[in-house]
Amino acid sequence: MNRRKFISRTAFTSAGIGMASVIPSKIWAAETAPSDSLNVALIGCRSMGFGDLEQHLSNPGVNCVALCDIDEEILNSRAAEVKTRFNQTPKLYKDFRKMLEQNDIDAVIIGTPDHWHCLLTVYALQAGKDVYVEKPMANTIEECNIMVRAAKQYNRIVQVGQQQRSGFIFQKAIEMIKSASVGNIRKINIWANFNYGAGSPIVPDEQVPAGVDFDMWLGPAPQRSFNRSRFHGMWRMFWDYGGGLVSDWGVHLLDIALWAKDIKQGPEKILVYAGHTYPEKRARETFDTMSVSFPGSNFVINYDVTAGIQNGPYNMPYGIAFIGDKATIVADRSKLQVYPEWDEDAKKNKVEEYIYSEGKESHGEHALNFIECVKTRKAPNCPPEAGRAAALYVHAANIAGRVGEPVLLWDEKQNRFTNSAAANELIVPKYREPWKLPV
Ligand SMILES: NC(=O)c1ccc[n+]([C@@H]2O[C@H](COP(=O)([O-])OP(=O)(O)OC[C@H]3O[C@@H](n4cnc5c(N)ncnc54)[C@H](O)[C@@H]3O)[C@@H](O)[C@H]2O)c1
Repeated sequence: MNRRKFISRTAFTSAGIGMASVIPSKIWAAETAPSDSLNVALIGCRSMGFGDLEQHLSNPGVNCVALCDIDEEILNSRAAEVKTRFNQTPKLYKDFRKMLEQNDIDAVIIGTPDHWHCLLTVYALQAGKDVYVEKPMANTIEECNIMVRAAKQYNRIVQVGQQQRSGFIFQKAIEMIKSASVGNIRKINIWANFNYGAGSPIVPDEQVPAGVDFDMWLGPAPQRSFNRSRFHGMWRMFWDYGGGLVSDWGVHLLDIALWAKDIKQGPEKILVYAGHTYPEKRARETFDTMSVSFPGSNFVINYDVTAGIQNGPYNMPYGIAFIGDKATIVADRSKLQVYPEWDEDAKKNKVEEYIYSEGKESHGEHALNFIECVKTRKAPNCPPEAGRAAALYVHAANIAGRVGEPVLLWDEKQNRFTNSAAANELIVPKYREPWKLPV
């Protein structure tokens, strides 16, 4: 039996076990595939989702067979782009449920706002597809738990879009930390300061634009009238759909901190300042100013967010500083620098200086890693457990701010906070009918 057939058989068998009546339409590398091709579909085409699709399509053998968006204008213009740039003609859908019935889809990329991630992932897994889901893994803690369980139950590959895990810069930083070359890491400082986090100007509600299925955009979120400041791109500043700058950037940066410290679970303790200190009134519910500490046994992770400005420590709007005994490693997505400590006795630096600049992000490597894992059925660089842990850190911080609790204690086994009933109320989302939280 050659390797491709073997992959195909094992994938089919294991998928069949947990899936009761839902049989995958086709598994990647099945005998029916004439070549090593992979058919992908995209749900949510406007911005990052389309960027992810482009990265997938840049690899040989990857085809775009379907696009889905609730906004006709976006759907049509992205379809035209796929045709011109990749010479492919995907089928077009406004309703993802119809799209998931398309038999030749192997993997689904999810690029919708966060409040849709859980449902779409679970539906796609149930339809036998592998999933690349954008970060944060979901908009609530319980949805993340469900997604971890669903990926296991349906035995599919799920890659969370925390692409920093696939890039050289952060892999190099982790290698330095794990080899203890910069000494013991006692503190990890993370920051994210962006103008957009302050929200957009306040505008009145209006009629739903032609060609937009707004009810489907809202999905499980509460019913409300249409307002542009909560719609494309800017939804991330409203609790029903996103978590603000804290989660938008936090999952990326905290993910690396957790990786460095081998943390795969939620934080035991969360210390939070959360405020609205930006001078101008903007369309936003999420906090514009936050300082969060996650104390560990012999180290601390600090996360600092200031929306409405665009600079920070080391002259970087966002970044991560690993403070070790012998040196501090400072990194963002395009560069890494080691700042050595001075050894007074030896009259020299405790470690070598190191500066590396790459000048590009790692979406391409992350997509490639997903493609490879779909083929090999190996765990991807950012599996659901890692997506959940990072999301839990940021959701816990936001929850502390929302309920006005400066200290929250998390019990991982019980999946709840032990010192705040109000905080526990925000773990599980309340879905609007007819959508149901998957069980
Ligand atoms: N990995 C990264 O670096 C990175 C960067 C930016 C955004 N993101 C993530 O990507 C996701 C999308 O963010 P964005 O900035 O592209 O948002 P966006 O608002 O620009 O695009 C979202 C798209 O999803 C569509 N959509 C919404 N509900 C839908 C549904 N039910 N069915 C089909 N289409 C639907 C919208 O019409 C829109 O076209 C978010 O989860 C965000 O956090 C990740």
